[in-house]
Amino acid sequence: MSYTIKSFDEYQQAYQESIQNPEGFWANIAEQFTWQQKWDKVLDWNFEEPNVKWFINGKLNITENCLDRHLKTRGNKLALIWEPNDPKERYVRYTYRELHEKVCMIANVLRNNGVKKGDRVCIYMPMIPELAFSVLACARIGAVHSVIFAGFSATSMADRINDAQATVVLTSDGLNRGTKQIPVKRVVDEAIATCPSVQKVIVVERTGWAVNMEEGRDVWLHEELQKVDKDCTAEIMDAEDPLFILYTSGSTGKPKGVVHTCGGYMVYSDYTFRNVFQYQESDVYWCTADIGWITGHTYLLYGPLLTGATTLMFEGIPTFPDAGRFWQVVDKHGVNIFYTAPTAIRSLMAAGLDHVLSYSLDSLKVLGSVGEPINEEAWHWYHIHVGKERCPVVDTWWQTETGGIMISALAHVSPLKPSHAGYPLPGIQPILVDQSGEEIKENEVEGYLCMKFPWPGMIRTTYGDHERCRLSYFAAYKGLYFTGDGAKRDKNGMYRIIGRVDDVINVSGHRFGTAEIENAINQNKHVVESAVVGYPHEIKGQGIYAFVICNHDDPGNEQYLRDEIIESVVAEIGKIAKPDKIQIVNGLPKTRSGKIMRRILRKVAEGETSNLGDTSTLLDPNVVDEIIAGAL
Ligand code: WTA
Repeated sequence: MSYTIKSFDEYQQAYQESIQNPEGFWANIAEQFTWQQKWDKVLDWNFEEPNVKWFINGKLNITENCLDRHLKTRGNKLALIWEPNDPKERYVRYTYRELHEKVCMIANVLRNNGVKKGDRVCIYMPMIPELAFSVLACARIGAVHSVIFAGFSATSMADRINDAQATVVLTSDGLNRGTKQIPVKRVVDEAIATCPSVQKVIVVERTGWAVNMEEGRDVWLHEELQKVDKDCTAEIMDAEDPLFILYTSGSTGKPKGVVHTCGGYMVYSDYTFRNVFQYQESDVYWCTADIGWITGHTYLLYGPLLTGATTLMFEGIPTFPDAGRFWQVVDKHGVNIFYTAPTAIRSLMAAGLDHVLSYSLDSLKVLGSVGEPINEEAWHWYHIHVGKERCPVVDTWWQTETGGIMISALAHVSPLKPSHAGYPLPGIQPILVDQSGEEIKENEVEGYLCMKFPWPGMIRTTYGDHERCRLSYFAAYKGLYFTGDGAKRDKNGMYRIIGRVDDVINVSGHRFGTAEIENAINQNKHVVESAVVGYPHEIKGQGIYAFVICNHDDPGNEQYLRDEIIESVVAEIGKIAKPDKIQIVNGLPKTRSGKIMRRILRKVAEGETSNLGDTSTLLDPNVVDEIIAGAL
C-alpha cells in the first residue's frame, strides 16, 4: 500500500512531509481505513491541559478495520496462529473469517450479560485465543477493555478493577505456564471480594480444573456461546471515545490507567506496524509479548490485524520444555518476523548456543527488540546467531503512553547501529532538553527525551484523574510531553535510549515504580521503612535492590525476614516484582530535611562505593558506612 515506506529516501521524504504538514500527512494515512463518518478536523491540541484530539467527529469501529474490512480479500488467510504452552498439544489456527466469527460471538455474550458501550471490562486471562477474542469483542461493542497481566496478584487486580469501576471480568479456570500451574479463577475470586462494581464473571475453560462458580455472578463462556448468533453489529464509536485502559507504573503512587482512544490508536498502530516491520502479505509475524502489556496490545493484536497480517500468539515461556522453544516455534510455523525483549535474548544467550544451532531459522527476515535498552552483546548475539547476519534488528523505543513505536529503524530501510533505536518515525518530533527544559539543539549530546508535537497514538488521559496525566507527563517541561527517559543523540542524529531518569525501574522489560514496591514491602508487619532502587542485572536488565529497616519486636533471623518481605511483595504486586536483593539495615541515608538520598543507595546497589559524591547534607553519615559494610 502507498503508505509503506520502501527506501531511506522515502523515509526522509515522509518525515519532512510529516513535520511540515502533520495534519495532511496523517489525514492521508487515515483515509486508508473504513470510517462510518469522516472526521471534520484532523487535530486539535495543546500540551498545557493537555488536550489532544485526532480525527475530530470521525466515526468508526476498530474491529471493522481489523476484521470485516479484510473478509473480502483475506477471508481465508490465517489471522491468528496459537501455539500452546506444551508443544505436545496441538496448535490452533484461525482465518480472518473464523476470527471474525469468534469475536462477534463473544461480543454477543458480553451484550447478553449486560455490557454496554462505555462500560469497563477487565480481562485477566492467560495467553489463550479467547484472550485475543475477548479484547476485540469489547472493542466491537464499544466496551473499554482493561487487560490485567495474569501474573499480577489479587490485590493488584482489585486496585485496577476498582479504579476503572469495571462491571464484568473475563477470565479462565487456570493456566499452565512452563511447568507451573496457576489457579487463575481463584485469584479473581479473591480480588473481586473487594470489588463491588463487578456484576458478572465470564470464565473460559482452559485447564478443566475444578473452580468455584458463584451462582448469579459467574458463568462459563462455552455455555454462554450456545445462546448467541454469529453476527454482531459493530458499535459506532467516536474517534476520541476510549478504546482501552492499560495500567502502568509511574514514579509515584499506584499504577495509573493510561487511556487510548479509537481513531488515533488505530491509525498509529497500523502505520507503525507495517513500516517498522515491513510486513509483506504472506509473512508470518510473531510478537512474544503477553497481551497484558502494551506491546501485546499494539503489536500482537491491533497493529498486525489492522494490516491484515498473520499473527502468532504463544501461551508458554522461552525456556519450556527447553531454551530452544522460541526457535522450535519459529521453524514449526515458518515465522518471518520475530519481535521480542532483550531480557529474553539475554536469558537464551546464557542457556548456550546449542539450542539455537539445532534449528534452521531460515524463514526469518526481520528481528525486533522492545522494552528496555538492548546491550551490544545481546544485539550482536541476536543479529549473528538468530538472524544469521541477514536480518536487521530493529530496536524499537516506545512506551505504554505512546501507544506505538516512536523511535526505531525501519527493517531493511534504515541504517542500523547496535544499541541505538535510531531515527524517529514520521510524525514524531523528539527533542532533548537539559535540566532547565532548554532544548539542546546540537548532536553528540545527552538529555531528557521529550516530544514537542502530538501523534495519533498518544495517551489522552489517565483514567478518572486528568490532573495526574498533566502532572506526570506535561508539567516537567512546559509545552512538552516528557517521556521519563534519558537519551543520547549521535553525530548523525540517531537516538540511543539510556533509560529512566525518574524513579521507575525496568525489570525484565516490566515497569515498576520504586515507591510502588516500597509500599508493598511496607505492608509487612516487621517493616518500619524501606527504600528500593534498581541495579544492573545481567539477565533482567535491572534488578530490584531493597534496603529495609525492620522493627525489633519480633526480630527472627534475617532470612526469615527476607522471605516474609518477598511474600508481601508477591501478595501486593505479584511474583514479577520480587526483590532480587534485600539488605536489612538500621538506618537509611537521609538529608536533614528527611529525604532519602537514593543516589547513594543506587551506588551501593551498583557496587560503586568509591565515589559517593557529596554526602555533607546527610543527617547521619555513619549510616552510609554501615550500609556499605553490609552490601549484598
Ligand atoms: C523502556 C514498553 C530502550 C523505556 C513498550 C520506556 C526502552 C519504558 C525501549 C516503557 C528500547 C522501551 N530501548 N528502552 N527499545 N523500549 N524502553 O510502558 O525506559 O512497558 O520509558 O512500554 O521502557 O515501558 P512500557
